[in-house]
Amino acid sequence: MDLGLAGRTVLVTGGSSGVGLATVRALLAEDARVATCGRDAGNLDKAAAGLGAGPDRLYTAVCDVRDADAVHRLVDGAADRFGGLDGLVNNAGQSRMKRLADTTPEDWRDELDLKFSSVLNPLTAALPLLRASAAAAVVNVNAVLAKQPEPRLITTSAARAGILNLSKSLSAELAADGIRVNSVCLGLVDTGQWERRYTASGSVLDYDAWQAELAADRGISLGRLGRAEEVAYAIVTLLSPRASYITGTSIDVCGGVGRGIA
Ligand SMILES: NC(=O)c1ccc[n+]([C@@H]2O[C@H](COP(=O)([O-])OP(=O)(O)OC[C@H]3O[C@@H](n4cnc5c(N)ncnc54)[C@H](OP(=O)(O)O)[C@@H]3O)[C@@H](O)[C@H]2O)c1
Repeated sequence: MDLGLAGRTVLVTGGSSGVGLATVRALLAEDARVATCGRDAGNLDKAAAGLGAGPDRLYTAVCDVRDADAVHRLVDGAADRFGGLDGLVNNAGQSRMKRLADTTPEDWRDELDLKFSSVLNPLTAALPLLRASAAAAVVNVNAVLAKQPEPRLITTSAARAGILNLSKSLSAELAADGIRVNSVCLGLVDTGQWERRYTASGSVLDYDAWQAELAADRGISLGRLGRAEEVAYAIVTLLSPRASYITGTSIDVCGGVGRGIA
């Protein structure tokens, strides 16, 4: 099926690694034009070089999504290059492994700031362009934690729940502008986040065995961590004009780790 993304422009935040990078790759494969960002210039350049897309298809800029001015410059740069924007994937971010006992007030502020500004800054900057698009869609990359909190990720779980709630409000308010807003809720996906945790764990197991143990410990029905491209396909589907009647919802991409029915 033709997803109808050819020639459309999508901004994917955090496209230098993991889910963001896989989403950029999947969109380029659909002949979309893609803008993306990350904080580390070296990682961004390396990712861009691996994608093999020219400047007519790919725009990259160093940008921290917590910085509203920098995000405005990113969106303006993408609009100058491509002439508009049809999609936004709010993906940039990371989680915080902390329990209440070792969480400081600064941790709470930082986590809430990251989670909310990583959605609100790009959305605010992109809104005039999305309103002008004939088929605008926003996808917020969230986590099953939003619905199934874990005490070892207490700040992230709470912030994720807020973002899922926010996504629903946005979908209702922006429908009048023709902008669809949906979420993907991830379980455990094999990306830079888990590679860093494996390294920090000092485990004697190799990475595959460590992942298998993790999957068993967390009760993942499919018995393994997800792959970034498996999330990217769900994101691309929600961005597609073929999903024109889907808004205000979320898709779990979690291998069955979610215990809820929805
Ligand atoms: N992997 C999982 O199991 C999992 C589970 C649930 C939710 N998620 C969420 O999925 C999203 C993607 O994560 P991932 O697993 O693909 O992680 P990843 O491999 O670490 O990639 C994260 C990407 O976001 C960028 N980034 C991080 N903070 C940023 C900031 N403040 N401003 C701009 N760019 C930023 C990173 O580049 P720089 O570091 O250079 O900025 C990188 O490109 C995140 O929001 C994460 O919390 C992941």
